[in-house]
Amino acid sequence: MPTRATRFFTLPEYPLATIPQRKRELAARGVDVIDLGAGDADLAPPQAALDRMRDAVLEPPLSRYGFGLGYVPYREAVSAWMQRRFGVRCDPMTEVVPLLGSKEGISHLAFAYLEPGCVSIIPEPGYNPYQGGTLLSSGEPYRYPLRPRTDFLLDLDEIPRDVLDRTRILYLNYPNNPTAAIAPKDYLERVVKRCRDLDILLVYDNAYSELAFDGYVPPSIFEIDGARDVAIEFHSISKTYNMTGWRCGWAAGRAELVGALAQVKTFVDTGNFMAVQAAAATALDNWASFVPGNVEIFRERRDAAVEAFRENGFECDKPQATMYLWIRLPEHITSAEFAQFLVEEEGVVVMPGSNFGLGGEGFFRVSFITSPERIREAASRAGRVLGRLSVGA
Ligand SMILES: Cc1ncc(COP(=O)(O)O)c(C=O)c1O
Repeated sequence: MPTRATRFFTLPEYPLATIPQRKRELAARGVDVIDLGAGDADLAPPQAALDRMRDAVLEPPLSRYGFGLGYVPYREAVSAWMQRRFGVRCDPMTEVVPLLGSKEGISHLAFAYLEPGCVSIIPEPGYNPYQGGTLLSSGEPYRYPLRPRTDFLLDLDEIPRDVLDRTRILYLNYPNNPTAAIAPKDYLERVVKRCRDLDILLVYDNAYSELAFDGYVPPSIFEIDGARDVAIEFHSISKTYNMTGWRCGWAAGRAELVGALAQVKTFVDTGNFMAVQAAAATALDNWASFVPGNVEIFRERRDAAVEAFRENGFECDKPQATMYLWIRLPEHITSAEFAQFLVEEEGVVVMPGSNFGLGGEGFFRVSFITSPERIREAASRAGRVLGRLSVGA
């Protein structure tokens, strides 16, 4: 057996990796599975994007290698959207990096900035590619537990000075997966200032910027003074347009910062299918006719989910953004045990908080990605499991 790198063995199992197979097995046994695991809605992409894709596959030049440059109108659509949506200027050619989904860029970025002895600060519970990129580039993760105590905000002042001195990257993600927390602007101002003082790259993962409710409008990090000096922001077509499988996103930031990622990628991929970039450009151009209506569907699902889980004995806040509920469990039930019972006995897939790292225990995540009826059914099955696990506690 050829020897694998020590680094390889530092990788935990990826939490969502085994779910599709498990669902197939349950369905084969005749179980009526309700999957509230991945953040992957059962809704359609914008019709305009589908139409553009149908035409684009018939354009032979778009079937050639995109290389890092990709489909230039995609870069231009990204730049125009950043300007319209946030009032932020990004040069389409030098300050935008097309990605094969934002996960790809988030993971690969670490190769440009980390090396042995260097630290990345990772909020946990959090999106697993932060640690994946760090571990694969032999960096050292410093895991910060996000808990209700700080409103799920990461406080740099709580991190030891000797760690900060070795820190190259801080990952932040608001609106947050999985806690659904949002970050006030004055908090973001403090973080940007600290990153500037400490010369830390702020990786701002804004995958949920377009999925917000009740009048809340998530900002870009570049709306914060000074952020351009230290931040790279990641965006995704996936959640905003129900296009998770298309694998398309982008990184934005000052040319010197995002250019390092673009250079790493020249050795990793040769760009995604340019027809996908063409369809994504159309989706961005059609934001106004699609996104508000789509968000309204998620709002109905959120309200149904909050009400149904509360009625069935659970405690959770009503999120102002994302497609997630972060639901508390009683102290005597571990999140892994609860999720395991729920899927095995009731066929409902949720994510145990412990899958998201350090601060995740004591909670589980529900993605409100299906109809209110199915969500209500899932909540009542979850309530039965809660009842069974609570007997005699
Ligand atoms: C916080 C966060 N960032 C980034 C992504 C990646 O999205 P994609 O790779 O589909 O663009 C996800 C997907 O679940 C996410 O939850």
